[in-house]
Amino acid sequence: MVNLHTSIGKFQFNNPLMNASGVHCMTAAELDEVAQSPAGTLVTKSGTLEARAGNPEPRYAGLALGSINSMGLPNLGYQYYLDYAVAFQAAHPDQPIFLSIAGTGPADYQQMAEAIQASAFTGLTEFNLSCPNVPGKPQIAYDLDTTARILDDLFKVFKKPAGIKLPPFFDLAQFDAMADLLNRYPLTFINSINSLGNGLAIDPATDTALIRPKGGFGGIGGAYAKPIALANVRAFRERLRPDIAIIGTGGVTSGRDVYELILCGASLVSLGTVLQKEGLPAFARLTGELEAEMTAKGYDAIPDFKGALKTL
Ligand code: DHB
Repeated sequence: MVNLHTSIGKFQFNNPLMNASGVHCMTAAELDEVAQSPAGTLVTKSGTLEARAGNPEPRYAGLALGSINSMGLPNLGYQYYLDYAVAFQAAHPDQPIFLSIAGTGPADYQQMAEAIQASAFTGLTEFNLSCPNVPGKPQIAYDLDTTARILDDLFKVFKKPAGIKLPPFFDLAQFDAMADLLNRYPLTFINSINSLGNGLAIDPATDTALIRPKGGFGGIGGAYAKPIALANVRAFRERLRPDIAIIGTGGVTSGRDVYELILCGASLVSLGTVLQKEGLPAFARLTGELEAEMTAKGYDAIPDFKGALKTL
């Protein structure tokens, strides 16, 4: 039997798999189902200051090798998820979870950070700087100055374990610049990557975009994203302070994919499109496939191969 234990900072998890924010995490009932699955932890839907209905439907479509979505941050408001997280940790003190937060502008992050700081929540907070789907609002983390301003303000008030969700980057100079910036802050983790922003998928029968918002543009997830996710996790693992852990997200459809994200340096791996398509059984399937891959490679435990990618 292999050991799937992993950790981020002082937080311990008995399985490296979790949901990706946005999938199976809108309501307390969905969150409870992830908690009761083989997943090692969970993250809430990104909560905003006020509840939001999100973009008009259809706003998600499955594709041959993944998915496209432009949900537009539908959520029940950050206070709902904060209340859930506080109640969850009281009932399950040994199961740390992630609270995800998204602003529609820089000031929102500060306000929500103050409220979480003042609350009883002692788990991990993920500040999402990479939502691609709110019409008229660019992804924050593609703007280094705005990112720095948000993090400067945030860490003045926020002293609890914090991480940020990043979009995919595509140039080594971008990895260098973002890692230099992130290394200045007391981050516990980053989560890399969010969806490949603003792709387009077309229905061949009708020549019509598959989703309604933003003229059909939406975030691409699933197998399409795998090489980009591996590269982003690897690039940040090579550049970030060793005490900043990485949650690897993107492109998982098999246990081998989970294994490869860990090989690139991920401490936890989150499931987006595959969880949307297969539902909760994805956690058991991928856990079994990861165990089989570790056994085949002769590894007993995650630290034995985490970050151990070989290059030529
Ligand atoms: C949404 C999509 C994202 O990729 C994200 O990070 C946050 C929100 C959305 O459309 O709801």
